[in-house]
Amino acid sequence: MEPVNLAEFEEVARGKLARKAYEYYAGGANDEVTLRANGEGYGKLALYPRVLRDVTVRDTSVEVLGERISFPVMVAPTAFQRMACDEGECATARAAARAGTIMVMSTLATTVIEDVVAATEGPKWFQLYIYKDRGVTLDLVRRAEAAGCRALVLTVDTAVWGQREADVRNGFALPEGLTVANLARHAQQHFPEGRAGSGLAAYAAALLDPSLTWKDLEWLRGQTKLPLLLKGVLHPDDARAAVEHGVAGVLVSNHGGRQLDSAPATIEALPRVVEAVAGRVPVLVDGGVRRGTDVVKALALGAKAVLIGRPILWGLAADGEEGAYRVLELLRVEFDLAMALCGARNVGEIGLESVG
Ligand code: FNR
Ligand code: LAC
Repeated sequence: MEPVNLAEFEEVARGKLARKAYEYYAGGANDEVTLRANGEGYGKLALYPRVLRDVTVRDTSVEVLGERISFPVMVAPTAFQRMACDEGECATARAAARAGTIMVMSTLATTVIEDVVAATEGPKWFQLYIYKDRGVTLDLVRRAEAAGCRALVLTVDTAVWGQREADVRNGFALPEGLTVANLARHAQQHFPEGRAGSGLAAYAAALLDPSLTWKDLEWLRGQTKLPLLLKGVLHPDDARAAVEHGVAGVLVSNHGGRQLDSAPATIEALPRVVEAVAGRVPVLVDGGVRRGTDVVKALALGAKAVLIGRPILWGLAADGEEGAYRVLELLRVEFDLAMALCGARNVGEIGLESVG
């Protein structure tokens, strides 16, 4: 039966994926307090509908960094999408383009940047992990630029790798034939051999740079003209510092509950970040968005748009490009309905008075 909501897509995906892959995708750090909090945070908020407002004609579109997208939901960067379906990242790119939204590609994709970009003309951003080797890092930036990516998203909540216990138990590794494709030319496409526990955690510990500071952000800004967003901000003081360092946007994220367990639900962290940023750059949020009403709540609290991570993987696993597209389309229809029932004709009419 065709799933009628995102939770049902997860059920279908769970039935199709190998256990190792499903648990890698679904899991969070340690007790998964933060993972659960992300979803529960939305459940704690109510929407206060306004009535008698003629909502016959509605416009769900929004502009993010000069890009008009069909509704305020974008595709978050998630690694290793070819574990979900053979077409992997290219299927996601096509689904996002069909849905009229932006795909953020992961550094740790199983398909090279150039192939994902070539899959469609839809807008792409590139998520960057800074490698200890700055030459490797700069190569990724240059390739993203050359391929036509329109922004860089620097992820900063992974100084060290979160402890995802399922991955430790499963000895998580990539299935035969899949690699960290973007790093192949630097011979950094494989997880370290002969270790116990999570292969990805071992990869990150060996290659990603735990020494990053604001100086590295300045360095990166000096290396590229692309707009740079900071992903993984929860504290208002960090949001303020990010703006002072010239970022083009702030992404409130706890990495889908996969890094610091006990970090707050992102929807609960959002208002203070919005206050700190004070309209100087757009604020985006991800983590636990599963319903159109969640999107309305995030916008009411000041987000410009939201991103979804796991639901796209569930769509890919269920039915490839078509599944990922259906996930986005379900969310678009739910968002349009929620907006109308709140008495809003466009995203600009969703305000603080809508939520409580
Ligand atoms: C992620 N996320 C992530 N973030 C990032 O910056 N680079 C990456 O490569 C990945 N990879 C990744 C893999 C998987 C399997 C998951 C679930 C998440 C985090 C992602 O961008 C986003 O912050 C969360 O997924 C948002 O939460 P939801 O929508 O999954 O609840
Ligand atoms: C993760 C990555 C790759 O959360 O960011 O697994």
